[in-house]
Amino acid sequence: MTEHVTLFEVGPRDGLQNESRMIPTADKIKLIDMLSTVGFSKIEATSFVSPKWVPQMGDAAEVMQGISRKPSIHYAALTPNLRGYHAALDAKADEVAIFASASEGFSQKNINCSFAESLERFAPIMAEAKTAGIPVRGYVSCVTECPYDGPITPEQTAKTAKALFDMGCYEISLGDTIGAATPATTAPMIDAVVDAIPVQNLAGHFHDTHGHALANIELCLSKGIRCFDSSVAGLGGCPYAPGAKGNVATEAAAQRIHDLGFDTGLDLTKLAKAATFAQSLTRPA
Ligand code: HMG
Ligand code: MG
Repeated sequence: MTEHVTLFEVGPRDGLQNESRMIPTADKIKLIDMLSTVGFSKIEATSFVSPKWVPQMGDAAEVMQGISRKPSIHYAALTPNLRGYHAALDAKADEVAIFASASEGFSQKNINCSFAESLERFAPIMAEAKTAGIPVRGYVSCVTECPYDGPITPEQTAKTAKALFDMGCYEISLGDTIGAATPATTAPMIDAVVDAIPVQNLAGHFHDTHGHALANIELCLSKGIRCFDSSVAGLGGCPYAPGAKGNVATEAAAQRIHDLGFDTGLDLTKLAKAATFAQSLTRPA
C-alpha cells in the first residue's frame, strides 16, 4: 500500500501574514473554502496574535467565523499567549499552535521575549488546552539558522523541540524560517531531534528562499518524517525574519512527494485552482 504523507496547508496564515497589502477578509475566507475542497486534513487558517505586530491577521475571528467548515478538516490557529488561545477557542479553532525559536535573537524580534519567557507564556495555554481536549502543535523556528544569531547547532534545536514536546505538544514542526537549510545542515539537525523526540511526532516546515525546500523534504522523508507544512502558491514568509520568503509551494511539494511514491490524498486539479486564486491575492487589484 502507498504510504501516506500529510501536507499541512499553512498558506492562509504563514502565507498571507507577510503580505503588505491588506487582503480583504472575504478573499481569505474564499481561499480557505477553496482549500477545503482539496483533501487536506489540516489547514492553518489564521493567527490570534497582536494586530499591532501583524496587522494582516487582525481579522482572525471574522475569518474563522466566515469559513465553511468540513468536519474532516482541523482548522488551526497560531496562539502566542493565553489571550490568543482564548480568542482562538471562542472562534472554534480545532487546534492551536504555540511558536518558539531555537535562537534567542528571533524569539526577541518575533514575540518580544526570551525562549525561557516564552515557555512561561505557553504553560497556561498547555494546561487549559489539556483540560479542554484541544490539540496543541509546537513550532520551532530557526532550526538551522537565525537571521539575527547566525547558525544554530543541532543540539540547540533538539533541546528547544524537546521542551515543547515535553510540555504536551502533539507534534513539533521544525521551521527553516529563512530557507537557509540545505540537506547537509538539515540531516544532522533531524538526527539530533529524532534522538530526543519520536519521528512520528515531527513535521518539516521549509521556506524556499534558496530553492532547497524540496531537497530538504526528500531528506526528511528518508529519515522517516511523514508530515510537512506547505503553502498554496508558495505564499509567505515572516514579517520578523528578513529573508523569509514563501513556504514551499503545496503544489510542488505534493508533486515531489507523489513522484517519490508516497500519497498525499490531495486533488491536484483543485489545488491548482486554489493556487491561481492565491496568486491573484498577492497582486494589487
Ligand atoms: P508585546 O508587545 O510584548 O505584548 O507582544 P503586550 O502584551 O504588550 O501586547 C501588545 C499589544 O497587543 C497590546 O495592545 C495587547 O493588548 C495586544 P495595547 O494594550 O498596546 O493596545 N495583544 C493582543 N492582541 C490580540 N491578540 C493577542 C494579543 N496579545 C497582546 N493574542 C506578542 C507580544 C506575543 C503579543 C507579540 O509579539 C505578537 O503578537 N507576536 C506575533 C508575531 C507573529 O505573529 N509572527 C509571525 C508568526 S511566527 C512565524 O511565522 C514562524 C513560523 O511560521 C515557523 C517558521 O517559519 O519558523 C511559525
Ligand atoms: Mg514559517
